[in-house]
Amino acid sequence: MIAFPKTKYSMNRLTGKRVLITGASAGIGEACANAFAESGADLLLSARRIERVEELATRLSEDHGVEVHTAKLDVTDSPAVTAYVEEIADANLVPDILINNAGKAVGLDLLHEGSLDDWEDMIDTNIKGLLYVSRAIIPHMVSRDSGHVINIGSIAGRWVYPKGAVYNATKFAVWALNEGMNIDLVGTRIRVSSVDPGMTETEFSEVRFHGDKDRADKVYEGTQPLTGDDIADAILYVANTPEHVDIINLVMMPTQQRHAFVLHRE
Ligand SMILES: NC(=O)c1ccc[n+]([C@@H]2O[C@H](COP(=O)([O-])OP(=O)(O)OC[C@H]3O[C@@H](n4cnc5c(N)ncnc54)[C@H](OP(=O)(O)O)[C@@H]3O)[C@@H](O)[C@H]2O)c1
Repeated sequence: MIAFPKTKYSMNRLTGKRVLITGASAGIGEACANAFAESGADLLLSARRIERVEELATRLSEDHGVEVHTAKLDVTDSPAVTAYVEEIADANLVPDILINNAGKAVGLDLLHEGSLDDWEDMIDTNIKGLLYVSRAIIPHMVSRDSGHVINIGSIAGRWVYPKGAVYNATKFAVWALNEGMNIDLVGTRIRVSSVDPGMTETEFSEVRFHGDKDRADKVYEGTQPLTGDDIADAILYVANTPEHVDIINLVMMPTQQRHAFVLHRE
């Protein structure tokens, strides 16, 4: 992992910033925590698997000397999200950057055979969870007239693929919410961006296939997917742009993938 280089072409605007990352216990969220800590940012990390988050926090504060606060937080629990944000606001820890990362695909089924439980899980996490966190944090950004919301979308929010309709719908919703937040915050100094990855090897497929690791591994066979670190690099870039620059969407895929339906396998 390379922290933001301090050359004359790319100054580090992240040192001393406070960054809130949801879903920081694995994958892209964990990679973002590493990348922002290396760049000298203080962190607010949360997820449901708090032990993992605490381990990560201890390592990052030891390695980089940054301040890291942790919380066990399920983004689908609206009262818990509200209470958490009140707590950080009371402690003067309102973030400069919010990374709405917690999310998942669960199941891969024809729509008419899909599991209602899987649907609820995806809709509650990817749409409602993102909304709860945004609704709680953004008013604090508005009252300070500064901040940056970075939503993690997906290429699944641009193209519908077979058996993915509900996950696709949640990521189409993230696309719409990203655009809506941008429109509603015009005239403020608050920026809203989405980073929309293609195939990225994390725990994502294991979660999608309800813990079936062999099936998950097959998704990436014969190809070179993106890694969490690749996505974190792009998020770091988006966050590090000067304040007058608002990257609305950043779509990225592995070189071996050019579209949801176009993937080269060796
Ligand atoms: N991997 C890909 O190919 C890919 C591509 C495009 C977009 N994305 C998006 O990237 C984001 C991160 O996914 P990932 O690939 O890093 O998957 P991952 O490795 O499975 O990580 C997902 C993270 O979300 C957290 N999470 C899940 N449900 C949660 C809840 N109810 N409350 C709080 N946190 C929750 C998990 O933590 P706990 O389980 O500990 O709560 C975990 O930290 C998601 O929004 C996903 O849709 C992934």
